[in-house]
Amino acid sequence: MSQRLLEIDDLVVRYGPIVAVREVSVNVDRGEIVALLGANGAGKSTILNAVAGLVPAAAGRLVFEGEEIQRLPAEKIVRRGLALVPEGRRVFPKLSVIDNLRLGGVAQRDRSSLDAVRQQVLDLFPVLRERSGQAAGTLSGGQQQMLAIGRALMSSPSLLLLDEPSLGLAPIIVDEIFQLIVGLREQGTTIVLVEQNVHRALEISDRAYVIANGVVDREGPSAQLRASAEIERAYLGIGVSA
Ligand SMILES: Nc1ncnc2c1ncn2[C@@H]1O[C@H](COP(=O)(O)OP(=O)(O)OP(=O)(O)O)[C@@H](O)[C@H]1O
Ligand SMILES: [Mg+2]
Repeated sequence: MSQRLLEIDDLVVRYGPIVAVREVSVNVDRGEIVALLGANGAGKSTILNAVAGLVPAAAGRLVFEGEEIQRLPAEKIVRRGLALVPEGRRVFPKLSVIDNLRLGGVAQRDRSSLDAVRQQVLDLFPVLRERSGQAAGTLSGGQQQMLAIGRALMSSPSLLLLDEPSLGLAPIIVDEIFQLIVGLREQGTTIVLVEQNVHRALEISDRAYVIANGVVDREGPSAQLRASAEIERAYLGIGVSA
């Protein structure tokens, strides 16, 4: 089994005439937390959405577990073990917590293992078990984020893409989410984390890429980037919060 789990090679993504991502290359090894940082509009979500098969790659290669996935539909990519938690959470507000979780498992065929996975997810988030019959729209923002993560975990992913999981949450809930991410990695899930919370993201990640205007501007071990105050000023700008 190769160490390399995901390879993004010279990815280009266009929205009509707009080139949102131009020749971005990012590698993720098994067991890593890799952070993608950068200002608003840099192209971070577009990269994650392309990897998950939600927007087409205009050029480049996406290699997951040694196989090209850039032409696969999103549901086949999920089935291979790559799950995205989209920006803004996007749970189904009228559906119950448990039905939202069920939807995360629809790509899996094996019913009995699905039940087991659902129990694991509910063990991970006791609050979701307590509220399993409640409409998802009545949950707090933090609980909805947990549900969105739980839903992604229902496909038993080896790679989890998290798009701004801490956005808009109270500091104490942000702590919980970051602890959860570290815990998921300890259990063997590899993680790509897009975050505005640069300090926290650099604390928990192994390596980071700074995206600016659709290209990789800097990359390196997170500890190195953290030590560089210049990085914050020059590349991440305002919006850097402790
Ligand atoms: N559906 C779309 N149609 C047209 N342009 C888009 C679309 N989605 C994103 N863009 C543009 O592509 C560029 C990259 O956007 P993207 O959402 O990937 O950035 P981001 O780094 O995730 O930003 P943010 O931090 O605000 O979430 C921006 O210029 C954005 O306006
Ligand atoms: Mg985004």
